[in-house]
Formats: sequence, C-alpha cells, structure tokens
Amino acid sequence: MRKEYGQVVVVDNGGFFPEDDSHRDVAWFMMDAMKVLGTDAVGVGERDLRFGLAYLRLQTKRTGLPLVCANLMDKKTHKPALQGYVIKKVGDVKVGIFGLVTDKLDLGPAKDSLEVIAPDVAAKQTVALLRRQGAGVVLLLSQVGKVETEDLVAAVDGIDAVMVGRNTPIIQKGRMIKNTVACYGGEQGQYLCRTELTLDAKRHATTGDAETFILGPEVGEKPEVQQLVKSFEDGFNEKLRKVEMEKEAQEKSKSVENNPDHYLGAEVCERCHTEEAQQWKTTSHSVAWQTLVDVKKDATPECIGCHVVGFNQAGGFQSASATPKLGNVQCENCHGMGTEHDAFASAPHHITEQTCTTCHHGENDPEFNFEKKLPLIAHANTSGETLKNRKVKMGQGSGSMIKEHGSH
Ligand code: HEC
Ligand code: HEC
Ligand code: HEC
Ligand code: HEC
Repeated sequence: MRKEYGQVVVVDNGGFFPEDDSHRDVAWFMMDAMKVLGTDAVGVGERDLRFGLAYLRLQTKRTGLPLVCANLMDKKTHKPALQGYVIKKVGDVKVGIFGLVTDKLDLGPAKDSLEVIAPDVAAKQTVALLRRQGAGVVLLLSQVGKVETEDLVAAVDGIDAVMVGRNTPIIQKGRMIKNTVACYGGEQGQYLCRTELTLDAKRHATTGDAETFILGPEVGEKPEVQQLVKSFEDGFNEKLRKVEMEKEAQEKSKSVENNPDHYLGAEVCERCHTEEAQQWKTTSHSVAWQTLVDVKKDATPECIGCHVVGFNQAGGFQSASATPKLGNVQCENCHGMGTEHDAFASAPHHITEQTCTTCHHGENDPEFNFEKKLPLIAHANTSGETLKNRKVKMGQGSGSMIKEHGSH
C-alpha cells in the first residue's frame, strides 16, 4: 500500500492488551511490533488500561508509539492522560488523528487516576484544534461503540474517516455517514481496513471508501517482526517454564508440610535448644549442602542423600526450592523426625555409632572412627574444628575432593 499510494497512514484502533494476566508480556510485545511496522497512531481500548495507567505510560514512553485518546483525562490535571491527538505530515498532507473512548468505560485499576469526558464534547474541541493547526484530513480512532460512533460522526463536522470499534462486528464494505467514511474491522485484530480518501487541490478529503480484508499469504513476513516474534516467544516460554517450576516446588513443599510426619528443620529446634543449635552451626554438618553446591553436585541425586535431611522420604528434602529448610546435615539426622519429638525427648536418649555410619561409611568415609569423631561434633565442642578442616580441604580444589570420595 505504501508503494502503491505513496501517502499512507497506518493506525491501530487499540484494544490490543491480552485478556489474562499470565500473558501480560503480550502488551509490550504488541507495542514493539506496531512500532516496527511504522504505526502512526494507536487508539486506546478498555483492556489497554487493565494493568493501570503507569504501565501504559511506561510502555508508551519506551516505544515512542503515539497512543491517542482525546477524552481520557488525568483526574488531577484535567489534561489528556496520554495524548489527545497526533498530527502526521504524510507527503504534502497534514493528517490529524485522535482517539475516543466510551464514557461507559471500566477504568479498572486506573479508576483513581483517570476520568472520561463526554466523547462528543471532546470530539468537537479536538477537530477544531486539529483544523486550526492545519490538518487537511482528520481521522478518528473510536472505541465508543457502533451506534454511538455513527451518531457522533453525524453530529460532529470535520471527521473525514473513522475506525469504528468496541463490540463492533466486522462489516466488509465501509459506508459513508454524512461526510465521514466509516470502516469496521471487527474484534481480535484479524482484519485490516483500507480507507481510501480522495483529496481536492487544497488537500482536503472530498470522497472516500473503505474495505475490510484479511492478509493473505501473498503478504510475506517482515523479517524484523518475525525476529521480534521469535525472541518474544522464546523469552515467554522460558518465563512460563519458570512459573511452572515455582508452582511445582510450592505444591511439593505444601505436601511436605501437610504430611503429619515431617522434618521441621533446625530453625524450629533452635527456638528451644539454642545452645545445641549455636554449637551445631560451628560444625561442618551445618554447611553440608553448600559443599555440594560448591562442587556443583547439588543436582546429582546420588550425592544428595547424606548432605540433607530425609532425602527421598515423605516429609523430607525434595529440592532446594521446594524444601529450602531441609538442606544440610541437621538435628533431625541424628535425633529423629521433629514431629516425633515427644517420643525421643522423653525416652532415655542415646545416639550410637549406627546413627553416624548411615552416612560415614564406605567410600564416603573409609576411616570413620566413632570414638575419635564424636567429640568433634559433640554439643560441648564449640571449637569450630570441623569447619576449619573443611575450609582447608575445600581450598585444595573441589575436583580432587570429588574424586577422592564421590566416585561411586
Ligand atoms: C517448643 C520447644 C521445643 C522445640 C521446638 C524442640 N524441642 Fe526438643 N525438647 C524440648 C523440651 C522441653 C525437652 C525436654 C527437656 C528435658 O526433659 O530435659 C526436649 C528434649 C529434646 C531432646 C532430648 C534431650 C535429652 O536430654 O535427652 C532432644 C534430642 C531434642 N529435644 C531435640 C529436638 C530437636 C531435634 C528439635 C527440632 C526438630 C526439637 N528438639 C525441638 C523442647 C523443644
Ligand atoms: C545424614 C548424614 C550424616 C550423619 C547421620 C552424620 N554425618 Fe557427619 N558428616 C556428614 C557429611 C555430609 C559431612 C561433611 C560435611 C561437609 O563438610 O560438607 C560430615 C562431616 C562430619 C565431620 C567432619 C569431617 C570429619 O570426618 O572429620 C565429623 C567429625 C562428623 N561428620 C561426625 C559425625 C558423627 C560423630 C556422627 C554421628 C553422631 C555423624 N557425623 C553423623 C554426614 C553425616
Ligand atoms: C553415604 C553418604 C554420602 C554420600 C552418598 C555422599 N557423601 Fe559427601 N560426605 C559424606 C560424609 C560422611 C562426609 C564427611 C567425611 C569426610 O569429610 O570425608 C562427606 C564429605 C564430602 C565432601 C568434603 C567436605 C569436607 O568437609 O571435607 C565433599 C566435597 C562431598 N562430600 C561431596 C560429595 C559428592 C560430590 C557426592 C556425590 C558424588 C557425595 N558427597 C556423596 C557422606 C556422603
Ligand atoms: C551429628 C549428630 C548430631 C546432630 C547433627 C545434632 N545432635 Fe544433638 N546430640 C547428639 C549427640 C551425640 C548428643 C549426646 C546425647 C547422646 O549421646 O545421645 C546430643 C544431644 C542433644 C541434646 C541433649 C542435651 C545435650 O546438649 O546434650 C539436645 C537437646 C540436642 N542434642 C539437640 C540438638 C539440636 C537442636 C540439634 C540441631 C541444631 C542437634 N542436636 C544436632 C548428636 C547430634
């Protein structure tokens, strides 16, 4: 069309924001795409306000896309909240484009900052303003409704063409309403309207007609837009995947907490057994998870069991995100599940070598000696010796540590 006609303006009637919150990113993506397509002006539909005025303003500023609406006012300043209109020089013609919304608009989260004034009042003022500034042609992007728009352009002189929107069905052939050519592109952005205006010597519109059609395969892809779509989709899928993973983790951690028998984590024990907990923090048991992170084996199931609480057990460690409190070797590895506290707190209590050798055995600790090792972690020992030793060993380079013991 640009090639064929030379003097072309490209506009969008607005109402392009997504309907559900999870697709919020579509909003800025659409604006980027319209910018790439060289859209001269964009109207504002009800859904475009659903993320609030600040968001819309931010995206408008970011993309530099002119969103126009002459009767959507900032409650404080009583000036158009976005911009009322735009004037484009197209060839040797000045085209004034303005937008309107219905006064029945649901302002959603923007209702405290916005107000809508009567569309016909705003239309009269804006048309006069545009003509004064030399606009030969005036276009209206209407989100006022079908009948209401038709009445409005019949009553307000000087609008050469209108895009009729808001619950307006598609009508293939546009029509003249008094001196205005109206086009009806329908909902969902599947259609394109071409409005052709014939100008007189003074560059004012004299006649016109409009037609609505759908882009066929003969209209190829625009590489910049294709690129934009691809990078948007990649980013969006990645985001959805992350949201999905978060959800899964939350559900898992819920199922852990809902299990009547589950591990509590040292933070809970600490509330009452402060001294033991403080001392435990001076032992390398309290950083056993970090050890796996340091050697990048925190995603290796074979490694996790002895470095966390209750791995693969109902009510035990599932993953760092699902059960963040159950990493490390903690109180419950030696004393038992916290939800059975009454049982182990009252019965005569003794921790034996067997408790230790569930982890300190075989390849992982071939030289384990209970009598020698127990004093190193006993609650009376606050020397921090095991942590110091760990630092020395880990300092040697993690590679050798893994080979040394994790090769099973
Ligand atoms: C609400 C406070 C509270 C919390 C939380 C708590 N305990 Fe206790 N714990 C007690 C009390 C009180 C006793 C009994 C002390 C006594 O009789 O000398 C006890 C006893 C114990 C004993 C036995 C002590 C002994 O002398 O043999 C162990 C072991 C123990 N708790 C471990 C834990 C662990 C592990 C956790 C966390 C999963 C935990 N406690 C959480 C209050 C608590
Ligand atoms: C759930 C498994 C598990 C249990 C049970 C366990 N430990 Fe450990 N222990 C570890 C892990 C893992 C480390 C290494 C921590 C690190 O540095 O990341 C460790 C480190 C140690 C260290 C310091 C390193 C060394 O070998 O000198 C001592 C001492 C120790 N444990 C003693 C004990 C004793 C005594 C018991 C029994 C009362 C015990 N542990 C029970 C897993 C366990
Ligand atoms: C059967 C229990 C068990 C499994 C499985 C296990 N570890 Fe350990 N790990 C231990 C114990 C016990 C220690 C402490 C003994 C020691 O330091 O030699 C330890 C210590 C370590 C240390 C040294 C920390 C320090 O304080 O010096 C590293 C690193 C480590 N483990 C990594 C791994 C990796 C990687 C895997 C998987 C390939 C793994 N562990 C699997 C029980 C286990
Ligand atoms: C590596 C094993 C191990 C870990 C981890 C551990 N304890 Fe103990 N705990 C013992 C041993 C051993 C005793 C001495 C009593 C015995 O021999 O049964 C003991 C005793 C206790 C006692 C009895 C009073 C005392 O101080 O002797 C309490 C209470 C206690 N631990 C709470 C905790 C709490 C809370 C944590 C976590 C912050 C914790 N323990 C972590 C092994 C452990």
